[in-house]
Amino acid sequence: MTTQSPDVLSTDELIVTRADGVAWLRLNRPKALNALSPSLMTALTDAALALDADPDVRVMVLIGSERAFAAGADIKEMAEASPVDMLTRDTIALWDRLRRVRKPLLAAVSGFCLGGGCELAMACDLLVAADNAVFGQPEINLGVIPGAGGTQRLTRAVGKALAMDMILTGRQISAQEALAHGLVSRVWPLEVFEEEVGEMARAIAAKAPMALRMATESVDKAFETSLAEGLDAERQRFYGLFATEDQKEGMKAFVEKRPARFIGR
Ligand code: CAA
Repeated sequence: MTTQSPDVLSTDELIVTRADGVAWLRLNRPKALNALSPSLMTALTDAALALDADPDVRVMVLIGSERAFAAGADIKEMAEASPVDMLTRDTIALWDRLRRVRKPLLAAVSGFCLGGGCELAMACDLLVAADNAVFGQPEINLGVIPGAGGTQRLTRAVGKALAMDMILTGRQISAQEALAHGLVSRVWPLEVFEEEVGEMARAIAAKAPMALRMATESVDKAFETSLAEGLDAERQRFYGLFATEDQKEGMKAFVEKRPARFIGR
């Protein structure tokens, strides 16, 4: 699954491979525990947007190493920065570029997932973990706060009590605790982690692409609108999918008791 030769979108800090409709984006700054430097975030978002435009790619997996998904924004790069430097660089705008990706983006977390790393994982559509994963927003220990969505997305994911606890004390939580509080949807032993992630990603890649897109947009609406508006947006997408060939194929295949073959139209 990840044995493919690196794609042209790869850089020194990001290894991109593709197979079976799944694109793997592997963060690769091992000496800095995948700290998210501007160059890494640029490579990552450029690659994700390019893959989003490729019809052969149905789902993307964002993954790190066994030791670290990502240990946060690069502290060394911002240690001496002034507010004007931070505003001028506006590196967090790079995180926002990921929100333009329409295909399902799966964060596969093993090891440290801290600060900007946790924020990056939470910006993805799905979040799964190996049993050695550790999640945290330790920015308070550096005299700052999460700046790439941590106070908002963590609170929505785990609720105010745990989010305040983690953000005010810097406490890190295990994969099991993250699972119990709804931060991640599945946890696997590290030994089988990539295999299981691959299986999950291929299962999603086999679904109807337009339905995947409508589904992710509808779920996201749940956080951004009233219930009535969200239900309305869902219903419009549901009815709209009846214009796709994939809806005809999916329902016909069910009636004919055979697997559906979705083409993305
Ligand atoms: N930025 C830059 N370098 C980092 C880094 C980061 N976020 N995290 C780790 N590194 C570097 C270390 O400096 C070290 O490099 P050197 O060998 O050159 O000294 C290397 O990675 C290995 O790290 P450690 O020696 O510290 O490894 P450890 O196993 O003892 O500890 C750790 C691991 C607990 C993750 C620890 O490295 C750590 O606490 N890292 C910082 C985590 C953090 O505070 N993240 C938040 C960053 S701020 C942010 O993300 C803001 C935002 O919201 C956008």
